[in-house]
Amino acid sequence: MSLAVTLSRAQEGVTAPQVVVEVHLSGGLPSTSIVGLPDSAVREARDRVRVAIQNTAFEYPNRRVTVNLAPAELPKDGGRFDLAIALGILAAGSQVPRERLDDCEFLGELALSGELRAVPGILPALIRARRAGRRIVVPRANAAEAALVGEADVLLADSLAEVCAWLGGHGSLSAPASATDFYDLPTCGPDMRDVRGQYQARRVLEIAAAGRHHLLMIGPPGTGKTMLAERLPGILPPMTESEALESCAIRSLSSEAIDPACWRRRPFRAPHHTASGVALVGGGSTPRPGEISLAHNGVLFLDELPEFSRHVLEVLREPLESGQIVISRAARQSTFPAEFQLIAAMNPCPCGYAGDPTHDCRCTPDQVQRYRARISGPLLDRIDLCVDVPRVPITHLTAPRGPHDDDSATVRRRVINAREKALLRAGQPNAELSVVNLERDCALPQAEREWLEAAVEKLGASARAYHRVLRVARTIADLEGGAGCVEQHHLAEALHYRRF
Ligand SMILES: Nc1ncnc2c1ncn2[C@@H]1O[C@H](COP(=O)(O)OP(=O)(O)OP(=O)(O)O)[C@@H](O)[C@H]1O
Ligand SMILES: [Mg+2]
Repeated sequence: MSLAVTLSRAQEGVTAPQVVVEVHLSGGLPSTSIVGLPDSAVREARDRVRVAIQNTAFEYPNRRVTVNLAPAELPKDGGRFDLAIALGILAAGSQVPRERLDDCEFLGELALSGELRAVPGILPALIRARRAGRRIVVPRANAAEAALVGEADVLLADSLAEVCAWLGGHGSLSAPASATDFYDLPTCGPDMRDVRGQYQARRVLEIAAAGRHHLLMIGPPGTGKTMLAERLPGILPPMTESEALESCAIRSLSSEAIDPACWRRRPFRAPHHTASGVALVGGGSTPRPGEISLAHNGVLFLDELPEFSRHVLEVLREPLESGQIVISRAARQSTFPAEFQLIAAMNPCPCGYAGDPTHDCRCTPDQVQRYRARISGPLLDRIDLCVDVPRVPITHLTAPRGPHDDDSATVRRRVINAREKALLRAGQPNAELSVVNLERDCALPQAEREWLEAAVEKLGASARAYHRVLRVARTIADLEGGAGCVEQHHLAEALHYRRF
C-alpha cells in the first residue's frame, strides 16, 4: 500500500489541535504537492523534505507524491510538520516500518542536511499529546521547553536519520533530562537580598506570597516599597500546569508573546496609574482582557495607589471578590478570569513624609484626609495585610548581611511549603478559604476565640475583616512549620497587619 499516515500538531492560540499528515504515492510524472491550507513556509517543506531525505541516505520516491494536511480548515504555518511529512513519505514507500507511527506524534523542522531544528511554541503540543496518550518526538533543540512539561512521554531527536533508526528498532531516542523539578525552577528577577533592613515588610511580603493575601505598603519616598513589590514574583510558588495554561490562554487573547522559559512563572502586571478603566479591567468592541485578567493567577501591582482614579479603583472591588470580570457590550458579553493578588504601595500623604521623624510633613490635615479617602473603605476592607515601610537608617544599607537576610530562593522554599499545606488541606490558598473551610481549618480553642472576638469588637471591624484576620493567622501558622493549629500569637500578628 502506498498510503501512509503520520500525526503532528498545529498551533492555534494556546491549543495544539492534531494534524493528520496523509501521504499517497501514485504513478505518473514525479512531482510533489502539499494540500490542506498550508502557508508558504509549509509549501516550501516540499523542497526541504526532499533534500533532507536524500541527505539521510534514503531515496526520494520517483513518483507522484501527494501530501494532505487534515483538517483542511485549520491554518498551518511554519516548518513544524517537516518531520511528520518526511516520515510519511518514507513509510508510504516502505523505507521505514509503520508499527510505531500509530502511537507517536512528530514535530520538527528539517534542515537540508536532515538535522532537526527547533520549532516555536511546542508546550501546548506536548500537553495535548500526553492527554491523547501518545508519545511525541521533538527536536533536541527544544529540550529545555520539553523538560518544563514534566513527566510527559517526550523523546528527543537530533536528525531524521536518528528517528528512522528508532522506528526501525535499531536505535533509541533519549527523554529530556529528568524534567525540571517543579520546585527547583530558578528564581528570576531581582533578589530579596538586595533589600536592606525592612524586616517587617519582608516578613509581610512572605506571608502575602504564602497565603496569596492582598497587601498594601505605606511609607515615605525611597524606602523600598517598589523594590519589595518587584521581588515578589521571585518568591511566589510556580504555577501548576493548569494554571499556567489558563494564563497562557489569556495572554494569547491579548496577543502578547508567550515565553516558554517563563511559562510557569506567575504573571506580574504593574499598570501605570494613568491607565484607563478599560486598560485595567478589559473592554473594547470585541472584548479583550485587561491588566487584571493578564494578572490572573499572579500579581497586580498598583504603585502609587491613590494616584489611580477613584472610578478605576472602584471597579476592582467586584473582581477582587469574585475572581472574574464580566464585560458587557451591545453585541456580546464576555467573562474573563481575574484571580489576581493585589499588591499596592502608597505614600502616607501627598508630600510623602507624614509620620517620618526626619522630615517635616507640609500637608494640612485636610489634604492628608482627602488623599487617604481616595482609597475607599470597601477596597481597604478587602486588603488583608497592611504594612508600614519606614525609612531605613543609612548605616543599615552598608552593614554586613545578617542571618535574617534570606535570599529569594530560601524564602521561596518556605513559601512553597506553607502553600502546599494549604492546598493539601483545602485545595486553595488561605486567602480564598471559604467560610465553611475556614471554620474547619482555623477552629480556635475557646480562650483564643474569646480573645479575638474582644479584639475585633474593640476595633469595630466588619465580619469580612474578622474572617480575613483568621485567614492570615492560618498562613502565619503554616509558615511556622509543623502541622500546628492557629494560636493566639498568630492571631495577634495577623491583627497587627490590619488597618481598620
Ligand atoms: N531597604 C532598602 N534597601 C536597599 N536599597 C534601598 C532600600 N530602600 C530604598 N533603596 C534604594 O532606593 C531606591 C528607591 O527605592 P523604591 O523605588 O523602592 O522606593 P519607594 O519606597 O517605592 O519610593 P516612592 O514612594 O517614591 O515610590 C531603590 O532603587 C534602592 O536603590
Ligand atoms: Mg515606589
